[in-house]
Amino acid sequence: MENKKKLVYITRKEHFNAAHRLYNPKWSDEENESFFGKCANKHFHGHNFDLYVTVKGIADENTGMVMDLKKLKVVIQHFVIDKLDHMNINEDVDFMKGKLASIENLVVEIWAQLEPHIENGKLHAVKLYETEKQFVEYFGE
Ligand code: NI
Repeated sequence: MENKKKLVYITRKEHFNAAHRLYNPKWSDEENESFFGKCANKHFHGHNFDLYVTVKGIADENTGMVMDLKKLKVVIQHFVIDKLDHMNINEDVDFMKGKLASIENLVVEIWAQLEPHIENGKLHAVKLYETEKQFVEYFGE
């Protein structure tokens, strides 16, 4: 059993601030307000987001690492944080263009940004906290 490869999950936590509003352009302003309430406010509102990115894999024999967390940090920074931090998700973020700016849609698009750049492991989960009390998770399905 000593030689059995051990699957390990590593996680990097990052943080960004961004604004958004929940708005479906197919609906009238009244319908949006009635369904989304304050979240549809046309002047937008902000959140302090916490992002957890988990990669799974087997530690490399030479480095003892699944994916170098320093590299993972750079990938998240470049492909996600730089595009979202201090931005308006509805208006400024290329990968959210034409999509309703919900955290469900956002977490799926964050996955799509990161997945091609994961090395020596597989992206396992992206978890996004919008507030302390609510978060979404995506596992790539
Ligand atoms: Ni919100």
